[in-house]
This record gives sequence, structure tokens and C-alpha cells, in this order.
Amino acid sequence: MSNPTAPTAMADDRPGPGRVVRVNGPLVEIEGLDQVAVLDVVEVGHNSLAAEVVSVRQGLLTAQVYEYTGGLRVGDPALGQGHPLSARFGPDLLGGIFDGLLRPLTGQPLWLSAGALRQTGTRRQWPFAPAVSTGTVVAPGNLLGMVPTPSGVDHRVLVPPGTAGPVDWVAGDGEVDDDEPIASIGGSPVAISEQWPVRAPRPVRARLELSAPLLTGQRVVDLLFPIAKGATAAVPGGFGTGKTVLLQQLVKWCEADVVVFVGCGERGNELADALADLSKLDDPRTGRSLLERTVVIANTSNMPVMAREASIHTGMTVAEFYRDMGYDTVLLADSTSRWAEALREFSSRSGELPAEEGYPAGLASALAAFYERAGRVTTLGGEEGSVTAIGAVSPPGGDMAEPVTAHTERFVRCLWSLDRDLAYARHYPAVTWRRSFSRDAQSVGAWHASEGRPAWARDRARAVALLAEADRLAPMVELVGLASLPGRERVTLLAGRLLREAVLQQSAQSVNDGHCTPAKQEALLELVLALYDRFLALVDQGHPASAVEEIDTSGVVRIRDEVGPDDAAGVERRRDEMLAALENWK
Ligand SMILES: Nc1ncnc2c1ncn2[C@@H]1O[C@H](COP(=O)(O)OP(=O)(O)OP(=O)(O)O)[C@@H](O)[C@H]1O
Ligand SMILES: [Mg+2]
Repeated sequence: MSNPTAPTAMADDRPGPGRVVRVNGPLVEIEGLDQVAVLDVVEVGHNSLAAEVVSVRQGLLTAQVYEYTGGLRVGDPALGQGHPLSARFGPDLLGGIFDGLLRPLTGQPLWLSAGALRQTGTRRQWPFAPAVSTGTVVAPGNLLGMVPTPSGVDHRVLVPPGTAGPVDWVAGDGEVDDDEPIASIGGSPVAISEQWPVRAPRPVRARLELSAPLLTGQRVVDLLFPIAKGATAAVPGGFGTGKTVLLQQLVKWCEADVVVFVGCGERGNELADALADLSKLDDPRTGRSLLERTVVIANTSNMPVMAREASIHTGMTVAEFYRDMGYDTVLLADSTSRWAEALREFSSRSGELPAEEGYPAGLASALAAFYERAGRVTTLGGEEGSVTAIGAVSPPGGDMAEPVTAHTERFVRCLWSLDRDLAYARHYPAVTWRRSFSRDAQSVGAWHASEGRPAWARDRARAVALLAEADRLAPMVELVGLASLPGRERVTLLAGRLLREAVLQQSAQSVNDGHCTPAKQEALLELVLALYDRFLALVDQGHPASAVEEIDTSGVVRIRDEVGPDDAAGVERRRDEMLAALENWK
């Protein structure tokens, strides 16, 4: 390819080499690197381990190393890279599995073999179709061309932030190389992959109000605690309460164009199983493997602890990168507590004065900065895109007052709190209606109304009231016995149980029940509410509550699993049959 503006090899003017003077786990002290700033990357040791400078004192740098530091010695060289922690974002991301620094993990665990930070992906050729011609004047965010991918999520090559002017040259239709320029704009070469410092939010033109929900196919979320596209949610839950299963259900079923899953400090075999699962699932939009529009960033518990810290930012930047192309993206992080532990480990090694429970004083602002990057935006190019951020939180001992959980709750718009008692009773997903909340419920209700579902908000309000009333009555039954309660209250208890078992419980393993369209969700909820009304009418007519309680409702609980995931009509048919049978009930 003729390429008049190809960058020539950069003269090596990187600062250094300095010299390692102390190694303490992932913390390394370096002497003799004067030109290096805080947050710059340095490569340490003979294996060029990636590290980030966290503090600078006269003549001495402290850096956190993102790789295993075994074998690193005093006297080993350290070379400044002259830029902050960055990764390269390109068309090889979709369907890929990467480490916390966005280096591909294929076959063997690559994190063991150290390497340069810039070495993302293997050199590959991509089909490129230009969207501009020579002379077109472009600004940041404008479309330069497309790289079609099989996933249906085409890679849009955009003018990077900070570059503008007339197109001097653009590649023609055909195969292009990963890091060769495909255009030159105002004298600057642009490639299909873009380098970006992962801690810096990518710029946008405007932030927009949230309105449409991110449908997840999970009833307790979509019906009771909905999340808007561009919002944030946390899933706190004690050990084994179902955080990972819920997040994986979201990877599979949430209605996003691109899903970024960050496995952060959790079990590696779980992630491997989830990936195997995902590769078997078909994307309903393309009929191809769902993995093709998923980006997985793996920093499991067996991998270097500091890379967990980077993985959250790397994942967020991947999500922003696709948002800028005009896509709705979702970032899922399992678990943000392990990320916070990495912060704590480093701060305790560096001798920083600890704040609550040993976490660094900056914990709250670090969490806020992470969730703050979510949002629905107008991109620099004038498209609309979103990043929805959802993080699992693993409070030690289930203590919801511990710092990571408590701070996270302040910053998120939705809380899906998992309850140990519900999980113990095998009520899955164990999202409790007592501690969970959604600040998006009102706007999502308005959206449903505009989509022809005006009943959504009313039904939700009735469901919330029914759950609360059933919860209020349950301890009274313990105290005074069911027989002493008035008939209407006994029927409320019965309907509360039906609501929990027939609507809110949802089996992740079931083909029919694993996900659920909004129409089937609403049909199931309306079925329970219709039965509730009918039962109330029966006791009002003078039928004894004990007789109503004996009506066989076992079929109600099975419907969710017996009709297909989008078969609302099937649910309505069953409802009509049941209500008709109750008409003739004596
Ligand atoms: N929606 C669900 N449907 C069916 N089973 C579920 C569901 N959610 C959780 N489970 C069951 O609970 C078990 C534990 O769930 P999971 O591994 O997600 O918990 P966790 O909160 O991530 O645990 P840890 O704290 O160890 O990370 C699962 O193996 C599964 O058997
Ligand atoms: Mg888990």
C-alpha cells in the first residue's frame, strides 16, 4: 500500500534507564529517572514488566508493577515510556479475551511472559471501507471508514479526539494492516486502532438524560428495579448468594450492542465455564456466537494483583470506545471489591496512612470516578451512545456497612442487593426487594408508557405494595397464627407468595425461564395481580379465606418455565383458563 504519511520509527528518547533500588511485592522503587511524571508508565527489569508511577520524590520513584515481580532485583534497569498507562483499541477487541492491560490471552496465560505494553493483538489485516475522500474537512468523532465484523457490530474508525482538518490522504477499499495509517488528517496519521490512556475518560459532546431501560431479561430487575441505559448499578451480596450468576445472565441477555465483562480477582475456572457457556449461545440478532460481541477482560484470582486495578479502567475505556462509535455498551465487573483490595494491598505496602478498614483514603473518590464514567451521551461525532456500568460487590461476611459497599451505594443509580436468606431458600435471583432500589424506575415507567405499555408503572407500584404488605404480615402470622388474620390479609399473604415464586424467581439454568421478554414479564405479573383481585373478591363475597387458600395454585408457579421466553400469549391463555375456572368456583 502506498503510504506517504507512514510514521517513521520513533527515535528512542524515552527517559532512562533508571535503576531498581527496592522491590516489595508489586511495589518497586526506582532511582535515576528524573523525567518521569506521576502516572507515567515505566518498564522495569530485563523482562520489561509494565509499571505505573504512583509517587515521585526527589531522586526516587515509587511504581506499582502490573506483573509478577519474582526475579526482579536491585540494580535492574527501568525505562520511562513517556506516556501514562495506555492501551490500543482496535477491531480485534470483539470476541477477544484480554488481561488487565488489554493484552490478548490466548492459549497459555500470557501474563507470565512479560512484554511491552503496546503489544496489543497480533498484527492482522482488516477489510476497510472508507467513508471520506481526500479534501473532506473532518473533526474529532467523524466517521473515517468502516471495518465490517461478523458480529453485526461494525467497527467504525473515527477521527480521534484532538485531530482535525482536511483529509490529506485516505486508504482505498481493501485490506489494511492493524497499525498502519488508513488516513492522514491535517498532517497527522490515523490508524484503525487507537491508543488511549485508560484512566482518562474519553471526551464527549454532551451528557444526556437517561430514559430508555437497559432490558436485561431478568424479571426482578426489569419489573422492580429497572436500570436505564447509561446508568450504574451495584450487586452487593455475601458469599455464594449469586452475584456471578446474575452478572453472567446479564452478559447473555441484556440488550446491549457490546458487552465488556471484567473478571476481576474472582475464580478462573468460573470464568472459563462462563466463556464456554457463552460460546454455545447464539446471538438472537445475528444467529452467531454471542461471544462475538463480547469483550472479556480476565484478571482472575490467580493473576497478578495490581493488574486488577488496571483492568477496571481498561474495561471502562473499551466500553467508552464502542460508545463513541454510537453503540449501547455495558460494562460488568465481578467483583469491584477485589479491585478495592488491590488498592488496599498497594497502599499498605507503600506505608500510606490507612483509612477505614485499611483501605486508602481515596477509596470513595476512586469508586466515584469509576461509576462517573458511565452515561448516555452525544458523542463527539454527534451520535448517541451509552455506557452502563454494573459492578458486583463482595462484602466480607455479608456486612453491608463495610466501606466498599457503603461507598458504592452512594454512587450508583440502582442497587440489586442479594439476600442470604433468599439464596438459602433457593429463591434465585436472590435480589431482595427490601434493600434494593432503582432511581430510574420513574423514567423507565414513562418510557414503557410511550412504548404502548401504560400499565407497567401501575403494575410495578402494585407489586411493590404487595411485597411490602406480605412482609408486614408474615411476622404477625408467626405471632398470632394464620387463622387469626382477617380474610383479605390471608389472601395478601397468598398473593405475595405467588408473586415471589411465579414472577420474581427465575432459574438461570432453564431454557424457557433463563430470560424473559418485557411482554412475558408483564403477562406473568398481570396474571398474579388478576388472581389477587379475584381472591380478594371471593373473600369479600363471604367465602372463607381457608377455602381460597386451598385453590390449587401450583400451576401458576410453573407457567414461567412452561411457556417460551417470549410467549406472552401463552401466559395470557393460561391466565384466562384459570380465571374462567374461578368464575365457576363455589
Ligand atoms: N439465578 C439463579 N438460578 C439458579 N441458580 C442460581 C442462580 N443464582 C445463583 N444460583 C446458585 O447459587 C450458586 C452460587 O452462585 P454464584 O457463584 O453466582 O455466587 P457468588 O455470589 O458469585 O459467590 P462468590 O461470593 O463465591 O463469588 C450457583 O452455583 C447456583 O447454583
Ligand atoms: Mg462470584
